[in-house]
Amino acid sequence: MRILLTGGAGFIGSHTAVALANAGFEPVLFDNFSNADPDVIGPICELAKQSVPLCHGDIRDAKTVENVLRTYECEAVIHFAGLKAVGESVAKPLDYYDNNVNGTISLLEGMKAAGVKTLIFSSSSTVYGDPDQLPLTEASPLKPATNPYGRTKMMVEEILSDVTKSDDAFCAVCLRYFNPIGAHPSGLIGENPNGIPNNLLPYVARVASGQLASLKVFGNDYPTPDGTGVRDYIHVVDLAEGHVKALQWALGKTGWTAVNLGCGRGYSVLEVIRAFEKASGRAVPFTFAPRRDGDIAENYADATLAKTLFGWEAQLGIDEMCRDAWHFECQRQKD
Ligand code: WQD
Repeated sequence: MRILLTGGAGFIGSHTAVALANAGFEPVLFDNFSNADPDVIGPICELAKQSVPLCHGDIRDAKTVENVLRTYECEAVIHFAGLKAVGESVAKPLDYYDNNVNGTISLLEGMKAAGVKTLIFSSSSTVYGDPDQLPLTEASPLKPATNPYGRTKMMVEEILSDVTKSDDAFCAVCLRYFNPIGAHPSGLIGENPNGIPNNLLPYVARVASGQLASLKVFGNDYPTPDGTGVRDYIHVVDLAEGHVKALQWALGKTGWTAVNLGCGRGYSVLEVIRAFEKASGRAVPFTFAPRRDGDIAENYADATLAKTLFGWEAQLGIDEMCRDAWHFECQRQKD
């Protein structure tokens, strides 16, 4: 069964392509390479042990989406494509609404024309905003986003809900990711942001390898055990497996569902630094800096629904996440 992966050459898309292939699906990748490298297809095919088609195209072009869905006779779409840098979204809101919201609308038009009615969407725990209560369940209140990136995730969830109401054969599953990190244990694929990384793990990896001098820990006065921000980090290989399980569940179902994908426990920035130092055998020098605008103190998931519905649960802990991120960083530098 062929599955279209928009943003299939990106960090989570590439790992999901491998996981789908290993589960007996045939992934078809679609990407505009705005934040991904077409050369990732080599390692993907190697790890997938099959030839994986990679189409260069933009989700904002509904006709191209329709053509690719028809050509490959895809039966479902996993929709990763989108812009994802919180700070950039404040500076360039129109780019975010265009790529993430308009892009999803034209993707849905392409799917409608091709008669494809199953969609798994990359949502985010950002839809919960600053939580009143932890852990976060899917019934926790959604809060207005503090930046355009978060608003696009919220809007797309609502658009998908409306689409399932208008078409009772449509199935939309919104997967609310917590903080995906790590890399494939082979070291062949991983997260490789352009320029100076915004997110904690890629930054820490570059400090450990000596490419960046020191990490700024944003805030040490949060109401958390050590004062630094706490997040539910999830290994990207577990996350990819979550997409396979969600897809297997969604095929043949209808309606709108939102499901958390997290480990169900939080780690502070200082705990992540210590785990990374242990995994890499390198020091990660840091200094404390003021809180970053828009950051929250703490979030972590209740991941029970994913287990109940899909039979999925994260298997890998922070040590494996850091080990694999470090392995990828070392491989990346050799290239
Ligand atoms: C984690 C923790 C920071 C960098 C964001 C998006 C989310 C998702 C993932 C998409 C926080 C601290 C970070 C640094 C630091 N989106 N930190 N120094 O902000 O939880 O989530 O990325 O792709 O939707 O909101 O992730 O990795 O940026 O931060 O101290 O140099 O690390 O303050 O506590 P975040 P993050």
